[in-house]
Amino acid sequence: MKTIEAIKTRRSINFFDSTKSITKEEAGHLVELASLSPSSFNLQPWEVIAVLDPSRKKILRGCAFNQPKVEEASVTFIIIANPGAVEQNIDTILAKQVEAGTLKKEHVESTKKMPFKMYQEKESLTRKIFAVKNASLFAMTLMLAAKGLGLESHPMDGFDSDRVKKEFNIPEEMIVPMIVAVGYASPELKLQSRAYRRPVSEVLRFDSF
Ligand SMILES: Cc1cc2nc3c(=O)[nH]c(=O)nc-3n(C[C@H](O)[C@H](O)[C@H](O)COP(=O)(O)O)c2cc1C
Repeated sequence: MKTIEAIKTRRSINFFDSTKSITKEEAGHLVELASLSPSSFNLQPWEVIAVLDPSRKKILRGCAFNQPKVEEASVTFIIIANPGAVEQNIDTILAKQVEAGTLKKEHVESTKKMPFKMYQEKESLTRKIFAVKNASLFAMTLMLAAKGLGLESHPMDGFDSDRVKKEFNIPEEMIVPMIVAVGYASPELKLQSRAYRRPVSEVLRFDSF
């Protein structure tokens, strides 16, 4: 599917075909594609749980104000933003750059200081924003990848974050910006017309706010 077509035809699907499942490999393929998203310093501050097991989906639905799509979708992904990804991932990322010949060994230490300076300490708001913005790009790529593979999706932030963290053993310091249901549209689905979009003339300014 062409990119523009995927963007134009992606919709938040409320009714999934609950008889259809996807495999762990298919869920992995979606995550592999979503991992190609850009990220600050390539730090990839995202983690993801693919909830495939019907009993686990039921629990997640309970955490998400009982939204049926959480359970009816073939898989619901819990998107996790990790503010600690700077400390966690920086050494590997820089080592891979050295390995690839895109960073000189002698520049590693000075390059390493940059994200710490920019994104401050782990507990700061700046750090949380860093993690959430990158994880949200990951989620968007996942939804477009789903469309490209003939699947539908639905992002949600209507859930009790503390409960999701507790039920799914997500470390306290991590943030759950959204969950994303992915699967096949129910054959009974009558898609409503596309929700209103603010016109470009209202959204877009040139050169200054
Ligand atoms: C971060 C985020 C959270 C959302 N949370 C919910 C939700 O909890 N429940 C729901 O029914 N829709 C939710 N939506 C879907 C929006 O209502 C939907 O994207 C919007 O109405 C535009 O429709 P479209 O996606 O079909 O273009 C969410 C969307 C986003 C991006």
